[in-house]
Amino acid sequence: KVEPLRPLVIKEPELEEDDGKKKVTILFGTQTGTAEGFAKALAEEAKARYEKATFRIVDLDDYADEDDEYEEKLKKETFVIFFLATYGDGEPTDNAAKFYKWFTEGNEKGQWLEHLQYAVFGLGNRQYEHFNKVAKVVDDIIAEQGGKRLVEVGLGDDDQCIEDDFSAWRETLWPELDQLLRDEDDTSVSTPYTAAVPEYRVVIYDPADALLQEKKLTYENGHSVYDSQHPCRVNVAVRRELHTPASDRSCTHLEFDIAGTGLSYETGDHVGVYCENASEVVEEAERLLGYSADTTFSIHSTKEDGTPISGCSPPFPSPCTVRTALTKYADLLNSPKKAALLALAAHASDPTEADRLRCLASPAGKDEYAQWIVASQRSLLEVLAEFPSAKPPLGVFFAAIAPRLQPRYYSISSSPRMAPSRIHVTCALVYEKTPAGRIHKGLCSTWMKNAVPLEERHDCSWAPIFVRQSNFRLPSDTSLPVIMIGPGTGLAPFRGFLQERLALKETGAELGPAIFFFGCRNRKVDYIYEDELNSFLNGGALSELVVAFSREGPTKEYVQHKLMEKAADVWNMISQGGYLYVCGDAKGMAKDVHRTLHTIVQEQGSLDSSKAESMVKNLQMDGSDLHSIFM
Ligand code: 2AM
Repeated sequence: KVEPLRPLVIKEPELEEDDGKKKVTILFGTQTGTAEGFAKALAEEAKARYEKATFRIVDLDDYADEDDEYEEKLKKETFVIFFLATYGDGEPTDNAAKFYKWFTEGNEKGQWLEHLQYAVFGLGNRQYEHFNKVAKVVDDIIAEQGGKRLVEVGLGDDDQCIEDDFSAWRETLWPELDQLLRDEDDTSVSTPYTAAVPEYRVVIYDPADALLQEKKLTYENGHSVYDSQHPCRVNVAVRRELHTPASDRSCTHLEFDIAGTGLSYETGDHVGVYCENASEVVEEAERLLGYSADTTFSIHSTKEDGTPISGCSPPFPSPCTVRTALTKYADLLNSPKKAALLALAAHASDPTEADRLRCLASPAGKDEYAQWIVASQRSLLEVLAEFPSAKPPLGVFFAAIAPRLQPRYYSISSSPRMAPSRIHVTCALVYEKTPAGRIHKGLCSTWMKNAVPLEERHDCSWAPIFVRQSNFRLPSDTSLPVIMIGPGTGLAPFRGFLQERLALKETGAELGPAIFFFGCRNRKVDYIYEDELNSFLNGGALSELVVAFSREGPTKEYVQHKLMEKAADVWNMISQGGYLYVCGDAKGMAKDVHRTLHTIVQEQGSLDSSKAESMVKNLQMDGSDLHSIFM
């Protein structure tokens, strides 16, 4: 059975030329949809405030095809608002990468942006070193090149409550926009504005036509380039549990079969996986929304006469059934944003419920929102259950309430030199109790754990995937020393590295020394890939394997303790121009390892603290924890 996958990029409607209105362009760089959501929320409120202006929301990837076109387009803009997420190690999101490269490297210098009034809101996380780098850099460059900054760059912090950061920044922006975009004769400065709830046009099909309609939407591989908008359908070839039965956790080894698809990868790349909501989650959503699973509908971002409704694209290909839409496209398990609560309030028939929802989304409800929604990790589904009178129509649900389900990224744990037709993933199961008492089952990790491999059944599990290039690479000079630090599933990219080194060695390459610091709880429980690691040692891909077992003895042994014990060797390798890599949990382990490295470099190299710090920064290639990357 062939099912519809993701839509192709659907181009934004271009603004009609001079209708006398002031034109504001809102550009967003988003990874998991938060920046896009903020862009839409801002546009909706702005539309309600400024009748004499038009607002266009554009995905940065759709803004221009060529570098020259960026320049041409930006020269024509008067007001631009950017929403820019910073991803992982100070990088732009995939959809902003092309723009960011051009803007930071290639764009014409001088005061060419003097005509532009602009504002930038950044989305980042303070736990990462390059907090909001992308937003800060873009904001600085525009100012340097003559742009007039309307407000200070907003620094949204996802480690706290990014919704509040956005609300606070937005409040600083309104007075500026009031001056620029309001009617001169409009004096109602204090009127409270309520943004209209965005809504797609939805057409429900007659059940008799419905079957026929869904069949028309088929999907086949065949794009020349695969990316997040054009994923490749691949089968699961192998699935294996990596923990022993003694474990109370789970870690899955999965292999996607890419033979004959045209999809390729390099050692160190990431794979993006589109997963589906579990059927019990979808059924609960159907029940709460009051729709039957088989209802077939189509969803449109234009009115019947073709005029655009909201300035954004349809969210997924249709017609499809409610079940398909909820399964593939609706993020049901993350916490709802404030704009979603307002949209729910607008469709709650019980006034008490509507009031409470509005209150949660208001400045007065800030603390309650932070506590009851964010800190409790209440999912959209739980919120729907809590407000049973809220029954939004499908057009509102998909436009304003449920964000689009985003792909999950994993470090690829194989090398194409060893596994040219397979992409391996090493994935720990996410299964935890939220503060509100719900058992949260990680979407993709649960799917992987339950995937049916081709080894077992011809009709195996499959997923749409794509490869995301990374800069996590072995040194091109194979004779340089390599130090790898990766406890738990932080091991993943290093398994790829070691496969690559083994393959290189077999072709006669001269390999420098390589040491791997691995950490797990107990050798009898979660010492994953133990046999393979030993064969990398025996085969010469690895010169030394150092394992820290944290729960075997009376005290915790972590990778950084082992690193300290090996200080002289580590320093020696670094001094020879060695590369050092850290992969795993950025919050805890990576910070502790960083501190330990600092001490090693300072002591062994007899350097002062600031010299040691810059040396550690220069040598560290941070793989980040791909399982916790957001936005
Ligand atoms: P623990 O769970 O016993 O604390 C892989 O998850 C390994 O990383 C586990 O052995 C885990 O130990 C360990 N770990 C947890 N926190 C760490 C930290 N801050 N630094 C290094 N290792 C850590």
